[in-house]
Amino acid sequence: MSTDSTPLQSSAVINEAVQTLRDGGLVAFPTETVYGLGADAKNPEAIKKIFAAKGRPPNHPLIVHLAAPDVYDVAKIDWTALLSPWVRDLSEDALLLVNTFWPGPLTLVFKKDKSVLNELTGGQDTVAIRAPTHPIAQELLRKFKGGVVAPSANRFGKVSPTSAADVRNEFEGMLGLMVLDGGDCEVGIESTIIDLSSGDKAILLRPGVITPGEILAKTGIQVYQPGEVLKDESEEVLPRVSGSLRAHYAPTTPLRLYAPGRVLDALSEFPDIKSRVAVAVLDSESSLGHDGHPSVHFEEIIMPSDGAAFANRLYRSLRDLDQQGWDLILFPEPPAGEEWDGVRDRLQRACFGSGPSSSSHDSN
Ligand code: TXA
Ligand code: MG
Repeated sequence: MSTDSTPLQSSAVINEAVQTLRDGGLVAFPTETVYGLGADAKNPEAIKKIFAAKGRPPNHPLIVHLAAPDVYDVAKIDWTALLSPWVRDLSEDALLLVNTFWPGPLTLVFKKDKSVLNELTGGQDTVAIRAPTHPIAQELLRKFKGGVVAPSANRFGKVSPTSAADVRNEFEGMLGLMVLDGGDCEVGIESTIIDLSSGDKAILLRPGVITPGEILAKTGIQVYQPGEVLKDESEEVLPRVSGSLRAHYAPTTPLRLYAPGRVLDALSEFPDIKSRVAVAVLDSESSLGHDGHPSVHFEEIIMPSDGAAFANRLYRSLRDLDQQGWDLILFPEPPAGEEWDGVRDRLQRACFGSGPSSSSHDSN
């Protein structure tokens, strides 16, 4: 098995990856959102290897990735046939969402077909599915001719990888892990997850670049926040979503958010004033404008003031800053607006779980 990868993966390398999956091995591959750590969705032993490699509790379900057939006109894809081995009760709304957004960064949660392995659903009667659009993911899935489970290719609770090098850093000790290199991920944060399993209402489980507003505009389907529909019901109806843990996507350097213009306030949480602080600033803000602090060296990191462009850079920046040895990282509170919801969600969790003790945090 090869441990190497080249940016443009040849057919031979993809064929080798397909064989690795068939043999019950793991293959890391690029998607448009983040890199995934893939295994054959029909092989329980292979699925167990994913949980072991990530250090992920076995009751946190995985997403099944499906190929979109190679046709000129995506509107002609028969998703009903492709989904039928996995899904029970495909509603009209579900089909409308699939036809509108697949392949793409949208994951849908359905009632599962009975053949779907409990190992991948964490014992739940639902299954999460998406069809990624990245060409290497598509080629791998098409040639494999089956479902591939793929969580983000990071250790549990850590920042998701957006390049092949990030994946190798995460799994340094795993000699022989095959990593397909598809360059930097375009979206940069994980897919939007919508739960359709309750039958009548679509519920947002994880915000991403596809927003409820875009879904409403393109399909007329109203997407609800979990709190809006589950208020009166018991906690147990909430599906287990590891991304819903408060601490997730976390760097080991302490990370905090600051309100516009209030960088020094954010420091007050750290009485033994840190001497080297990296401060991310939106490019629209030009400069921090702080008068400085007697014992702190600030360094500005310019981030895009467009939500999608910010998302594209978020994990890259967190990873790079984490490795640069700062005492503290400050990020601006994201502006209001649902196009920032995915970024806000990831940043808040990253703050909560950040710091040297994050690996021993109770939810990791
Ligand atoms: O963009 C993405 O979705 C990436 C790429 C690799 O496709 N994958 C990803 O997988 O983010 P992961 O495992 O890191 O996150 C999947 C999330 C988890 O929070 C999991 O709990 C949730 O999806 N999930 C999976 N199956 C579910 C189900 N049946 N019901 C509710 N949530 C589910
Ligand atoms: Mg993940």
